[in-house]
Amino acid sequence: MNNVSKIEAQKAVLTLPNGQTHELPVLQGSTGPDVLDIRKLYAETGYFTYDPGYTSTASCESGLTFIDGEQGVLSHRGYAIEELAEKSTYLEVCYLLLYGELPTQAQFDEFDGHITNHSLVHEQLLYFYRGFRRDAHPMSIMVGVVGALSAFYHDSLDIDDPVQRRLAAYRLIAKLPTLAAMAYKYSLGHPFVYPKNEMSYAENFLNMTFSLPTEPYEVNPVLARAMDRILILHADHEQNASTSTVRLAGSSRANPFACVASGIASLWGPAHGGANEAVLTMLNQIGTADRIPEFIARAKDKDDPFRLMGFGHRVYKNYDPRAQVMRETCHEVLEELGITQEPLLDLAMQLERIALEDPYFVDRKLFPNVDFYSGIILKAMGFPTSMFTVLFAMSRTAGWIAQWKEMIQEPTQKIGRPRQLYIGPTERSYVPMDKR
Ligand code: ACO
Repeated sequence: MNNVSKIEAQKAVLTLPNGQTHELPVLQGSTGPDVLDIRKLYAETGYFTYDPGYTSTASCESGLTFIDGEQGVLSHRGYAIEELAEKSTYLEVCYLLLYGELPTQAQFDEFDGHITNHSLVHEQLLYFYRGFRRDAHPMSIMVGVVGALSAFYHDSLDIDDPVQRRLAAYRLIAKLPTLAAMAYKYSLGHPFVYPKNEMSYAENFLNMTFSLPTEPYEVNPVLARAMDRILILHADHEQNASTSTVRLAGSSRANPFACVASGIASLWGPAHGGANEAVLTMLNQIGTADRIPEFIARAKDKDDPFRLMGFGHRVYKNYDPRAQVMRETCHEVLEELGITQEPLLDLAMQLERIALEDPYFVDRKLFPNVDFYSGIILKAMGFPTSMFTVLFAMSRTAGWIAQWKEMIQEPTQKIGRPRQLYIGPTERSYVPMDKR
């Protein structure tokens, strides 16, 4: 199914406090809830709308990703995430997000060739790494080095040139694994491992992360497939906080490398991409199953800021479809690695069961989200918790850059500029310091 332009379905009538009425067009997308078009509201009535957290606001039109949170549905360009996770590859999903269709073999080979050929980073970028303390969080390194790409690739900064936009997109998708693996190697004091053109995207990343020049290293195909699946599952997720950050940054016509760096900064927060790291920290904090009730009680206590990490989602009020795939992948990886007795996994499963039966979580529709399982898989694969969000950033780069490209191509695109409900003091006169 191709993109369907929005259509004006009908009108809604808004009655204002002064008794006047204002007609709002009701727009219909290809699926999902209809939206009230309030674009002319302020100009014609003098009223703003108030929606902190954007829980009722569609900030843009998009043909990339559809989510039905009530039904637990996620699809990219019409293809269900479960089917993509099972049958596709991360690079094919990148192509789908960028171009709207699944590639033919020839189109894929060409795309794959471009990504492969752009995976090296400028040698001078190595000096950026050396400037960081050894104990720097890899996300802090990523925010810095991805933003720094703007200083190296001047031939892909003209956002009005479609060829340069495409080049920037390819560079970002190709270089993120290299930069991410380098952040990890730097933290260990190990030499950086260069990308290898004969390897797939996921294999290459595992090789750059876990191999050493001193020893042979063979990428385990089960782990490479799991890695690829993790990347597919995180590739895009509609207008979440980091994607909206990328779009907002890009709406001022900032360059794509700087925009993606802003997305990485937003993703880092524990309420967003930092959650998979927070899940592991929480499981370690809980320690043993007998302490689960204590932590469940804390999560329910409104005076305690503690929340069950990996539970709940702004949009999914049903099982996160990615969580289901991730759960299966989790078992495959543990089996492949011969981890039959993983205490943290046991703890996670017990926590999941107890929380799913507890009326507090059931009533609020707080199901385990994708991060609940991804942390356990990544830990089993050998990644330290500090790398979890980096992997998420690497994967989401495809979505960020595809969403950015979609926005820039929109003829009516304008700078994003929300308004506010001002609650500060009204006009007053300046008082000199000696009179305060
Ligand atoms: N543990 C305990 N209570 C929770 C949790 C949780 N994890 N999540 C939500 N609640 C409660 C809230 O206290 C609130 O209760 P109330 O109605 O009695 O006041 C109710 O459920 C609704 O929660 P909100 O905060 O209004 O929901 P919101 O949509 O704003 O938050 C969020 C979504 C941020 C994901 C939240 O569920 C959370 O903090 N979860 C833990 C962090 C996490 O796992 N984040 C990953 C998100 S997925 C991703 O980024 C890929």
